[in-house]
Amino acid sequence: PFWQRLLVVANRLPVSAVRRGEDSWSLDISAGGLVSALLGVKEFEARWIGWAGVNVPDEIGQKALTKALAEKRCIPVFLDEEIVHQYYNGYCNNILWPLFHYLGLPQEDRLATTRSFQSQFAAYKKANQMFADVVNAHYEEGDVVWCHDYHLMYLPECLKKYNTKMKVGWFLHTPFPSSEIHRTLPSRYELLRSVLAADLVGFHTYDYARHFVSACTRILGLEGTPEGVEDQGKLTRVAAFPIGIDSDRFIRALELPQVQEHIKELKERFSGRKVMLGVDRLDMIKGIPQKLLAFEKFLEENPYWRDKVVLLQIAVPTRTDDCSLDFHALCALYAVTDVALVTSLRDGMNLVSYEFVACQEAKKGVLILSEFAGAAQSLGAGAILVNPWNITEVAASIGQALNMPAEEREKRHCHNFHHVTEHTAQEWAETFVSELNDTVVEAQLRT
Ligand code: UDP
Ligand code: G6P
Repeated sequence: PFWQRLLVVANRLPVSAVRRGEDSWSLDISAGGLVSALLGVKEFEARWIGWAGVNVPDEIGQKALTKALAEKRCIPVFLDEEIVHQYYNGYCNNILWPLFHYLGLPQEDRLATTRSFQSQFAAYKKANQMFADVVNAHYEEGDVVWCHDYHLMYLPECLKKYNTKMKVGWFLHTPFPSSEIHRTLPSRYELLRSVLAADLVGFHTYDYARHFVSACTRILGLEGTPEGVEDQGKLTRVAAFPIGIDSDRFIRALELPQVQEHIKELKERFSGRKVMLGVDRLDMIKGIPQKLLAFEKFLEENPYWRDKVVLLQIAVPTRTDDCSLDFHALCALYAVTDVALVTSLRDGMNLVSYEFVACQEAKKGVLILSEFAGAAQSLGAGAILVNPWNITEVAASIGQALNMPAEEREKRHCHNFHHVTEHTAQEWAETFVSELNDTVVEAQLRT
């Protein structure tokens, strides 16, 4: 069989590394969506390139970590503390993240922000160049290079400068905002230009893809076509590839004795009450205050429900290595939930909503889902869609969900369950990579 090598480049490697001694490390694989997606793709031999999330200033430590990671098919990019501060905390998470979620550019201290902007963008480019150097050092002819997310928008251009023949794809896991929002970014031209150096550019939804194309037409003056963006005869293909989850992994987990035991405990603990659940990173975009206000309003208006419903809100500290709920505990929570509440103000996709659906074959609970999450495009027919800013509407939806007749719940659940089990993460990864291969072949035929 033909095994194509796939280099997956993302800011964070799918492992957490803890230093045990001068030259020893312990590694823990964290099976997020992307990892399980690629584990399931049999045609490719995937290698990961990214930051291990730790500062390793000394050479002995770097060598030891590189060696340990190699066993997990991971290749580290070493970023020092200053770069992490300016690139990761600064440009990525203080500028691009809020902007792409329609929260605008930081305004607390306009002058300070403006002044630090240039140095943060310089650090962003420098960090992206460091990723490119590592990719280039490990690249072999024929490899597919798949770059991920807003951290690495400058990477496609750096890679093509090394080698125009490299097959480069870039996928954004967040929303891409309206061109009117992107327009406010001081580095608006450079980022678009660099992303366009890729052969294939992917987004979760058709809307995000369209926003990207109109940003290229309005800001760069290029031609947008149904296929993508054209610049002097060169086409960058742009398309939507909605991500999914490894639904089988969740369904199988529910059968494990320890998960069953945990489900039993939770059921006893909450017996006599309906369980509502929120699972979010503690992030501005998740609309957690709006969710709590809506729940409060619901209880105020519906005294009958006061001792008959409980809202569990998991709020995971974010952009740190703090612990979160482990996979099995999360599955048990999803399984005992009657109503899941996702109130993101903006969210690229929101996998939590998919995971909840996958764990609901027994209960057939209700999903209340923000219309501003990418998932609203795929789970909209089964979920109750809400505008999270409209507290009255969300409160009313809570009532509707809690009182929903079994027959309607089942119908809605079946719809979503079918979607979540059919459109998996594996399918997503396969589609993207084969589209990337095809795009490169078509481009060669054109020239
Ligand atoms: N998650 C987890 N433990 C927790 C909370 C969340 O492992 O305590 C996982 C969750 O299963 C999901 C991911 O974190 O896979 C969150 O992804 P989502 O797309 O919902 O939002 P993001 O955090 O990427 O904005
Ligand atoms: C979002 C981003 C991911 C990122 C994740 C966790 O989902 O789209 O790229 O990995 O948040 O954030 P962290 O900064 O801790 O990796």
